[in-house]
Amino acid sequence: MYGQANILVIDDDEAIRDSCQQVFSRDGNRVVVAEDGLIGLTRFKKESFDLIILDLKMPGLGGMDVLNEIKGDDPEAIVIVITGYSTIESAVEAMKNGAYDFVPKPFTPDSLRMIARRALEKKKLALENILLRAEVKENLGPKVIIGKSESMKKVEDLVLKVSPTDSTVLISGDSGTGKELVARAIHHYSGRKDKPFVVVDCGSLVENLFESELFGHVKGSFTGASETKYGRFELANEGTLFFDEIGNISMNIQIKLLRVIQEREITKVGSGQVIKADVRIIAATNKDLQKAVKEGTFREDLFYRLSVVPIALPPLRERRKDIPILADNFLKKYNRMRKKNVKAISEKAMKALVEYDWPGNVRELENAIERGVVLTESEVIEPKDLYYYGLSVDTSSQSNTTKTRSLYDVEREHIIKTLKMFNNQIGRAAEALGVDRKTLRLKLKKYGIG
Ligand SMILES: Nc1ncnc2c1ncn2[C@@H]1O[C@H](COP(=O)(O)OP(=O)(O)OP(=O)(O)O)[C@@H](O)[C@H]1O
Ligand SMILES: [Mg+2]
Repeated sequence: MYGQANILVIDDDEAIRDSCQQVFSRDGNRVVVAEDGLIGLTRFKKESFDLIILDLKMPGLGGMDVLNEIKGDDPEAIVIVITGYSTIESAVEAMKNGAYDFVPKPFTPDSLRMIARRALEKKKLALENILLRAEVKENLGPKVIIGKSESMKKVEDLVLKVSPTDSTVLISGDSGTGKELVARAIHHYSGRKDKPFVVVDCGSLVENLFESELFGHVKGSFTGASETKYGRFELANEGTLFFDEIGNISMNIQIKLLRVIQEREITKVGSGQVIKADVRIIAATNKDLQKAVKEGTFREDLFYRLSVVPIALPPLRERRKDIPILADNFLKKYNRMRKKNVKAISEKAMKALVEYDWPGNVRELENAIERGVVLTESEVIEPKDLYYYGLSVDTSSQSNTTKTRSLYDVEREHIIKTLKMFNNQIGRAAEALGVDRKTLRLKLKKYGIG
């Protein structure tokens, strides 16, 4: 963080302001100076700073008052106070009031630089901890998109082309087609790859907490806001923000999001501070957003802002060429993970896999292979290992009829079979089908099951 931080120096002594300016900007930071407490405070209220250097003894509004104002506004603010050599008591008081550290006068530029570096390191750690605690999924390892169908090759080309740019990308596709995988791949191949990839699950966002979740809030800004909170935009700073299931956000939220995307600035709830939002935005949807726009449930202007580069992921049954290579990869993966040594998928079993319609797409295929790896007692996965999962109906004599059946019937029957297999336990059936419970419940309703 040090080297690109935003630093505010508040001191009435011109020589100190100048030397701070010099030392910090030489290291690549941005430095703003203020010659008295009031000016400093005004700057602070307008902009977000990573670090504040504050002289305690100033004419007019004193340093301690400025410190209290700052900490009242943003308890996470990192303030280093400058104290006169004879006023150790005030240094102690400042620390009690939330200052991070103090430098007694006179000081060398080097000692100041060291303290600043340590303070910013601490802030970075705090942010990283929050990222971990929030269980923001980390960018783990290279993200390989498997597939050799024409459509997946096109997707891959697009991913490589768009990754190094900062363009907003809208990924569309049915459940389990690999939208999140593609989003992570774009992040991974971009210049932001060492920065966070932060997921916003729009489906589970509570309307009235949306702003605080995204923009953060300061302590006490509303009932329940007992601590200052970093918003997802801050957590994703310099990285990528992934809006999953963007089709689920309300009109009200759409307007707010549009504003941020246009202005690239956010305001924490309960504070006037404006924070620059340096994030790359990727959104995903399993809904037809264009249709939603026509129906008036999704704002057209937001749709165009998001779909600067649209990437559509076709359902797996429309790219059956990908099935064998995906299946083989999942076989390797689950051999490793489950400590098994299954050598192959038999020809017949593979045929069943290729002919099956995969309503749950790649995720369902992945689950099927995992199950096969676990269940098979031989070195090869046979149709019977998949039969348990309800697949091998598609082989041999029945495969022709399968193809002429409507997708509706196939999905309905498959759901019924899966439910039976798991004794009507929705959670487990949903997992096997590669959808979440909510989706499965909706489908049960749609098909009049249960
Ligand atoms: N082309 C692919 N190559 C390798 N793995 C894939 C591919 N597509 C999907 N997967 C795997 O399938 C699973 C589901 O993918 P992902 O979570 O990206 O789907 P999604 O479209 O976001 O689904 P949902 O709409 O349900 O959230 C993941 O484990 C992912 O790694
Ligand atoms: Mg997803």
